[in-house]
Amino acid sequence: MTKRIEFLRITENKRINKDLFTLELSGSERIPEMKPGQFVQAKIEGSPGTFLRRPFSVHDVNYPQNTFKLLISIAGRGTEALSRLVNGDLLNLIYPLGNFFTLPKKGQRILLVGGGCGIAPLLFLAKYLKSNDFIPNILLGFRNKERIIEYDEYSEAGKVFLTTEDGSRGTKGIVTEHPVLSSEGYDVIYCCGPESMMKAVVKYCRQNRIECEVSLENLMGCGIGACLCCVVETVKGNLCTCVDGPVFNINDLKW
Ligand SMILES: Cc1cc2nc3c(=O)[nH]c(=O)nc-3n(C[C@H](O)[C@H](O)[C@H](O)COP(=O)(O)OP(=O)(O)OC[C@H]3O[C@@H](n4cnc5c(N)ncnc54)[C@H](O)[C@@H]3O)c2cc1C
Ligand code: FES
Repeated sequence: MTKRIEFLRITENKRINKDLFTLELSGSERIPEMKPGQFVQAKIEGSPGTFLRRPFSVHDVNYPQNTFKLLISIAGRGTEALSRLVNGDLLNLIYPLGNFFTLPKKGQRILLVGGGCGIAPLLFLAKYLKSNDFIPNILLGFRNKERIIEYDEYSEAGKVFLTTEDGSRGTKGIVTEHPVLSSEGYDVIYCCGPESMMKAVVKYCRQNRIECEVSLENLMGCGIGACLCCVVETVKGNLCTCVDGPVFNINDLKW
């Protein structure tokens, strides 16, 4: 897949809650084909201390409209600067970067598991699976009902199950405590979210011999395999999350 460096135009900046927003971007040329799990490296202009590009997963793609979306959580100076972009502003991206989730085999039962802003790549994945005739179950975990995001969008692509830590909606607890995890006999689980959540899901998959892919969000510098600051220890040696990942089969991880 050819990588591009180009300016894309902001066509929508939608605030979801205090900490989260989506940016919709449109290219002057046709946007390239992208796969779920891939990410962009965004250049943040005019913000001292954000010299390095910031990585974000591709959240949703609309090829007919020539647009795609990022779901961004405000974590620091870079994401704060991005939250202030308005329609018509330009954002320089290197994209699409990294590998992508593997499509399951026909007939396999699939579960997507995500938590918090870590659900970003899962909407694109759920829609991609649906367009390839898979109907995934989707288990999403949030701190409380106010933090639940894009329930309707995910519901269009699969059957959604919720957990909240305080029990204000869905099952009370964390994702690994939801009964849907053990009730359906899944063949494949795709997971993205906080590392503690992913590690709990990985443990469950290992115990139950379920195939599993996780998307890692290691700190990144260059995003193109040059600086080695995103290295992850695997059974195949040290690999770069930016070019060998961000998606890893758990059999390769030393977690
Ligand atoms: C492959 C990949 C995909 C990602 N996808 C998304 C996404 O879709 N949406 C989203 O909101 N975020 C995503 N992230 C995380 C995002 O890149 C960081 O939150 C962002 O770079 C922070 O930039 P900042 O300038 O606002 O914060 P900084 O000022 O750089 O840092 C603020 C705080 O955030 C922490 N932080 C910085 N980078 C990361 C990181 N990579 N992971 C976890 N914590 C970090 C810092 O340690 C610090 O505590 C992704 C990261 C990777 C590697
Ligand atoms: S971020 Fe530089 S090698 Fe991965």
